[in-house]
This record gives sequence, structure tokens and C-alpha cells, in this order.
Amino acid sequence: MTGVICGTGACVPERILDNNEVAEFVDTSDQWIRERTGVEQRRIAREETTVSMAAEAGRQAVEEAGISPEDIDMIITATATPDQIFPCTACEVQKELGAVRAVCFDMNAACSGFLFAYQTAQAYIASGICRNILITGSERLSGIVDWKDRGTCILFGDGAGAALIRAKEGKQYLPFACSDGTGGPALTCPGYAGKQDGDQKVISHISMDGREVFQFAVRRVPEAVREVLKKNDLKTEDIDWFVLHQANQRIVEAAAKRLKTEIEKFPMNLQKYGNTSSASIPILLNELNRSGKLKKGQKLILAGFGAGLSWGASVLEWGI
Ligand code: COA
Repeated sequence: MTGVICGTGACVPERILDNNEVAEFVDTSDQWIRERTGVEQRRIAREETTVSMAAEAGRQAVEEAGISPEDIDMIITATATPDQIFPCTACEVQKELGAVRAVCFDMNAACSGFLFAYQTAQAYIASGICRNILITGSERLSGIVDWKDRGTCILFGDGAGAALIRAKEGKQYLPFACSDGTGGPALTCPGYAGKQDGDQKVISHISMDGREVFQFAVRRVPEAVREVLKKNDLKTEDIDWFVLHQANQRIVEAAAKRLKTEIEKFPMNLQKYGNTSSASIPILLNELNRSGKLKKGQKLILAGFGAGLSWGASVLEWGI
């Protein structure tokens, strides 16, 4: 038994904040941000919340899968920026969708969150416990970004993505995932109070050693891809698409180079959204799916990395 993605969705805030606007409040420039990161603009939540974006992305995924919300056995929301500590975001999504039978919980593994939620969903399906699982990655990072720190505020954006995974007879690919808590200080956000009466009450901000995180990602992402290929007796040539966490264009390019694989197989949309943490992989997946680029039977690798430190990769066969 394996889990096949049979619906995707995404929701990003309406408000676009481009690099020139960012350069109005920190000492930077559109050119610097594009050259060092690839980011051109990002979305910033106003009315949108972590729950509202996750619910909208989830609704689209459920609709495309052609199932009824009552058929969903489990909802996992990956988020590092919930609107509140509890009830968890996934329970709020359940309420919005009317997924009355679902067991719901959140998962915080920062930018690796969606990948780890995907791997968790596969484990529940492989064990026969669940048949239909909705996973969403949703973030309102603008609430924890220090808008005075040019080293971090240029990178991040808000948004959500979702995938509906359904049990099907077929090959269960083995996942690869790793964590290293000793690397934690490179990327931190010590405290977060979430949304209160329409305002984000922030008690601390994202703090990052950019160079260290960059080097970590460039080393660990290709390593994770190679490990997951080895575990499943596959070669890089067998993979049609490498869907990497969208943090920085140079990280994606470096991964492609180290894997000796053409960059065309590494789709990117970070230019439009910046780094949306746990939402970046499902937003990109949804874009590839809805634009018809993914063909049934193609093999994909999803690879995530981020705070923790944590990283990993999964192989999947496209099923829509
Ligand atoms: N605009 C202009 N100059 C900037 C700047 C900005 N937004 N941010 C930093 N600088 C300056 C620095 O102050 C430094 O100046 P100095 O040489 O006078 O001290 C110079 O640019 C180089 O800084 P550095 O930090 O070495 O730049 P970099 O090439 O490493 O790029 C990042 C910085 C943040 C873009 C890059 O390190 C990065 O993307 N790291 C990974 C971050 C990430 O992906 N995090 C999330 C992981 S999930």
C-alpha cells in the first residue's frame, strides 16, 4: 500500500511586496536581492491567517481529489507560525472544511515541515490506519520577520499549499530524513505569540547566520537526494522533477550542479513568493500540477531543509 497525491491546492495573500518597496525601509536594493537570492517579490498577509490560507489550499486539494470532506481520515498541518498555540491549525482547518471524521494535528519542523508531514502521512497509509490524508503547509512568516534586519527580511513570504494523499495498491518508496539539534543556533525564533485581535503580537524574531545556513543547505540537500535514491535503488536520471524547498535560487542551482543534473528539472517559483517555509514545496507542486507540467507516472523528489537543523527527501510517483 502506498499514498498517491490526487489533489493539490495553494493560497497566497493578495498583497505583493516587491524588492523596491523593501529597499524603502532597509538598506538594500532590488539588484542585490535578485543576485544573492533570486527573490523578486513576496506575498504579505493582511486579512489572511495561517488557518484561512491552509483551509483554502486544503479545499482546492480535496475538490481536485473528488472526495467529500467526510472521507478525510487525517489532517496534518505543517506550520511554524500558527495563529494560536491551540487549538491546533489542523483542527481549525477541519472545522472550516467540515472534515468531521479526521484526526488533526500540527507539525513544526520549520522549512522541513511539509516534507516530514508527507512522510508521516505515508507511514499512516502504509500501516493501513488511514486511507485519505490532507497535508497542508501554511505560514504567516511576515509576523516573525524582523523588518529592520536586511539579512533576513528580504528572504521570507507568506502562503499555504496542500496535497490530498490517498491509499492505493503500489510500491511504497522509502523516505530519508535527518535532524541535527546541535546546528540549531544557525536559524532560530525563540518565541512567538501568534495572532491576537487581528494583530501579530510578536515576542521575538527570526535570527539567522545566513552563510552557515547557506553552506548547510548546499551540502545537505544533494546528500539527502543521493540517500533517498540509494534507498530506493534509483539514479538521478530516473527522476523527472526535483521539487526543492524554495529558499534561495543559488541553493537550488548549487544542488543541481552537485547532482550533475540539468537545472530545467529543478522548477522554481521563489522569485514570486520568497521563502514560504513549510508552504514552499506544496505551492510549487500545485503550480506544476495546475499548469499541466506533471504527467502521470513521472517520478518526483521532494527535498526539504531548514531550522532544527533538519533535512530530508522523498521519492514519489505522480498520480493525477
Ligand atoms: N542588501 C544589501 N547588502 C546586504 C544585505 C541586503 N539585503 N544583506 C546582507 N548584506 C551585506 C552584508 O552586510 C555584507 O556586507 P559586508 O561584506 O560589508 O559585511 C555583505 O552583504 C555580504 O553578506 P553575506 O551575509 O556574506 O551575504 P551572502 O552572499 O551570504 O547572502 C544571504 C546573504 C542571507 C542571502 C545568504 O547567506 C542566504 O541566502 N543564506 C541562506 C538563508 C536561507 O536560505 N535561510 C532559510 C533556510 S530554510
